[in-house]
Amino acid sequence: MSQPATTVNKSMEAIVALCRRRGFIFQSSQIYGGINGFWDYGPLGVELKRNCKEAWWADLVRCAPDGPDGHPIEIVGLDSTIIMNPKVWEASGHLGGFNDPMQTCRKCKKLFRTDQIEPMLRESAWVLSLLAATGVDPGAAQADFDPSALAKWARGKGRRLAPHLALVRDSTATLAHLAERFPQSRTISLGIEQMIGCVAKPEQGPPCPHCGGDLTEPRQFNLMFQTYHGAVFDQEHKTYLRPETAQGIFTNFRNVLDTTRVKTPFGIAQIGKAFRNEVTPRNFTFRSREFEQMELEFFVHPDEAGDWYRYWCQSRYRWWQSIGLASDNLTLRQHERKELSHYAQEGAGTSDVEYRFPFTAPGFGELEGIAHRTDFDLRRHAEHSGLGNKLMVFDQQHQERYFPHAIEPSAGADRGVLALLCEAYTVDTQRPSQVYMNFHPRIAPIKSAIFPLVARDGMPQLAENLYLELRRRFAVQFDVKQNIGKRYARMDEAGTPFCITIDGQSLEDQTATVRNRNTLAQHRIGLDRVGAYLHEQLAEGP
Ligand code: GAP
Repeated sequence: MSQPATTVNKSMEAIVALCRRRGFIFQSSQIYGGINGFWDYGPLGVELKRNCKEAWWADLVRCAPDGPDGHPIEIVGLDSTIIMNPKVWEASGHLGGFNDPMQTCRKCKKLFRTDQIEPMLRESAWVLSLLAATGVDPGAAQADFDPSALAKWARGKGRRLAPHLALVRDSTATLAHLAERFPQSRTISLGIEQMIGCVAKPEQGPPCPHCGGDLTEPRQFNLMFQTYHGAVFDQEHKTYLRPETAQGIFTNFRNVLDTTRVKTPFGIAQIGKAFRNEVTPRNFTFRSREFEQMELEFFVHPDEAGDWYRYWCQSRYRWWQSIGLASDNLTLRQHERKELSHYAQEGAGTSDVEYRFPFTAPGFGELEGIAHRTDFDLRRHAEHSGLGNKLMVFDQQHQERYFPHAIEPSAGADRGVLALLCEAYTVDTQRPSQVYMNFHPRIAPIKSAIFPLVARDGMPQLAENLYLELRRRFAVQFDVKQNIGKRYARMDEAGTPFCITIDGQSLEDQTATVRNRNTLAQHRIGLDRVGAYLHEQLAEGP
């Protein structure tokens, strides 16, 4: 009946359509045509996102997990500002180093992040058309094609879809170059990337995913949004919207030490907005320009950093599983050296918890990074602020002063929500809605819906009384409109685990039916038992 828990065969278009139709996620400023890279959460989406953030806060701050020694670890919370003194960004290295290499198309002037050109090419209209014309499967690693099909495509569809591609502008020269490289071959066999490369100008690198034109050399582009504080718009008053919440934690490190009893190992956690002027925001909310992070800086003695890094990698992977992401779609990947951030030093690791999104499948996309940031940030702030050894901690036992190392699990709340939506989306052609959202009950925006079977004979009053009693404890909804089948269908799309219906029998024997979202099974329970039942079932899941 239902599909297995894999995202490989889920359609991203269908998931985005459901998000719009049911009020999970809307385009920002939609009535003005939207704005690229910005998204709003609707009535269901805001509950889903709050549940995700609250689960993170509850499991890390209020009820921190046990450490490797079996004792609960200590983590305190923080809420720092989005705009900070710009010296913060000099010290952190973001002003000098928070750059992405970018390339511009010399013809259509579109900008691309260098690392995204290859994946964009694989999805671009002209590449897909070229592959179809040469009979190459877009999912294949290898392309076996007859070069004569290229010339035909260049004269036809190529002119419209990729007018600036070398093959289209001068097919004779491009094909002659190919013939030189592959003399006497009727069929050429290449990787897809090389095949795309060979229809562009030789030695030029990949062509423009939009029009096929030549791209400039990569140039550095700072991703921070700029603004001004106060009335004077000059260099002195220039500030930035934070590109990560983490720096607010480092700049408050001394304040937290002075006002609490925490001692290493301990953590400071924060949830908040971050802003990056992403060159190519894409894949729905996956790469946005305004997004929310859930970040923890966990401060430890340098000698213990490796153990804590491994601890947090495992702990964060398990946490995403605990809120409903199936292990088939989740992976933990250690970064290669060339991927390490500007703050990561030799010997200090970074791993990502990755999720198999439909647009990355069969591959994975980053959900959370776990980085050993060493003492880079505290040392830099100690130097730049002049606080020096005040940002060190003192170890009484060993009579030693040191800068603690930070292990940083940094998750995106929006990417978390997107993964939860993709995971929950379950096609079921047997039910009227054709689909249901299989959210973990802890995450489901609505836990239960209370319906009168029909809007007469005292059923609405009895149902409303039950709703008023339950809403003090659970996120529940009351709905009397439309026939019961349509109301169930709405709740299936919202991912509500249990629907409770008051019918004619309820008036006689004070019972109601409970419908399970996943199994569709129904059974009766006493009205006085509904609260306790929901309490038990929500803990276990439908
Ligand atoms: N403080 C470390 C840091 O910011 P990051 O890997 O750049 O590290 C952490 O970001 C997380 O923030 C990512 O794993 C991702 O979930 C989320 N994130 C980063 N850029 C994002 C974007 N443009 N849109 C949505 N989420 C983003």
